[in-house]
Amino acid sequence: HENHPTLMMIFGATGDLAKRKLFPSLYKLFEKGKLTDQFAVIGVARRPLTNEEFQQSIKDSVKTAIEKEDRIEEFASHFYYHSHDVTDSASYAVLKKMANDLDEQYHLHGNRIFYLAMAPEFFGTIALHLKEDGLTDVKGYKRLVIEKPFGHDLESAKELNKQIRTAFSEKEIYRIDHYLGKEMVQNIEVIRFANAIFEPLWNNRYISNIQVTSSEILGVEERGRYYENSGALRDMVQNHMLQMVALLAMEPPIRLTTEEIRSEKVKVLRALRSIDGEDVKEFFVRGQYGAGTIDGHDVPGYREEPMVDAHSNTETFVAGKLLIDNFRWAGVPFYIRTGKRMEAKSTKIIIQFKDIPMNLYYRPEEPLNPNLLVIHIQPEEGITLHLNAKKARQNEVATPIKLNYANKGMNGYNTPESYEKLLYDCMRGDATNFTHWDEVALSWSFTDKISHVWENTVEEHFPNYAAGTMGPKCADELLEKDGFFWWPIS
Ligand code: BG6
Repeated sequence: HENHPTLMMIFGATGDLAKRKLFPSLYKLFEKGKLTDQFAVIGVARRPLTNEEFQQSIKDSVKTAIEKEDRIEEFASHFYYHSHDVTDSASYAVLKKMANDLDEQYHLHGNRIFYLAMAPEFFGTIALHLKEDGLTDVKGYKRLVIEKPFGHDLESAKELNKQIRTAFSEKEIYRIDHYLGKEMVQNIEVIRFANAIFEPLWNNRYISNIQVTSSEILGVEERGRYYENSGALRDMVQNHMLQMVALLAMEPPIRLTTEEIRSEKVKVLRALRSIDGEDVKEFFVRGQYGAGTIDGHDVPGYREEPMVDAHSNTETFVAGKLLIDNFRWAGVPFYIRTGKRMEAKSTKIIIQFKDIPMNLYYRPEEPLNPNLLVIHIQPEEGITLHLNAKKARQNEVATPIKLNYANKGMNGYNTPESYEKLLYDCMRGDATNFTHWDEVALSWSFTDKISHVWENTVEEHFPNYAAGTMGPKCADELLEKDGFFWWPIS
């Protein structure tokens, strides 16, 4: 492996994300030799902790996530802690001194990654201080990694962007969308562009519709406060769902560089038909879960969750129909749906091909299935192609068969896997799997119009789906009126 000396400062180092994803991912990189001895991490957070206590929390977090951790002591010795006040220059001065010392001690060539894994209201303040208090004054590279939510709507995202752009250029900003780190999301491009059999069919002449589902079993858990101000549209659609759609719909880039891929994704988002005002209810539906049963356990409804308003109008489920107005996709609906407290934890993409021009095998009792290409993003990883073949020992009868490929890297969901990839990309300076400002802005301007309508009309039918189901009836009707239905995801 190449050597990528780096000093990483993690703001929010005592938080959930750092413990569940970042530390285990860094350990994996260390174990694989992708992180050499030339690295140091400064954990930054408010609470007072000694370096030893912080290192202990690193060890605990790695041990919880990873079975084999032989080099844990050595790994943890690279971690240091700074108890920080995000608004106080004096505190940044201490941090700066610490950073400079570690830079020298570990020969880090002045390379710095600032990772903001904390409440977004401080993103702007921190970026400004980093610049003003001299922390971004380095010989090497400086990069800012920023977690979602990137703003609350287009306006606030612009404001936030303006603030971070005072200290970092667009090239130095790595906006995380962890879906872009998922193995099978990255595989979409390879499946499309490395095969002769798909790309010629990948258009409105042969595809009837595309369905993207990302369902979760979990409810909002402890995140009621955040979620009440977000809802599924902002939490999942603005970022993850639209990113998957962009990858499915983009033109083949002229080469596999960050700029070329991004510019193709941006074109898709620009071609996305904007849904406004009265049209919103034709194209988008929302849901909120009520009490129900999951795995034999009774679970409460969304309005009974901690920190949630008893009359909350927040959606925990969204289904929508997207149209991409360009030559390739005119007339092909992209249906998306996502929600909490659904029947299964699953992310799948189903590409439904058009029917053949004439069905020689028509039998009313056994209608021919259309061809489907299923991309399993998680928890299983793989692809399935649904075809029709001859039924054994019967003439002139077609029966559905499946060609299956299981990606052997099977990681299940919630593994640190995608963060491992994204962190390494950031160290190498590869921003391909991060979202550019143009994508963020276009996505917000699309979802803002829908939020606007939803926030101004109380949904009287909430809650409208029981926990443990595949969402409200209106989501099925959305497809039925076009003559389609959601293909089962299991
Ligand atoms: C996050 C959302 O971005 O994605 C969460 O904020 C959601 O609400 C999560 O649970 C889903 O990610 P994954 O990788 O488990 O599908």
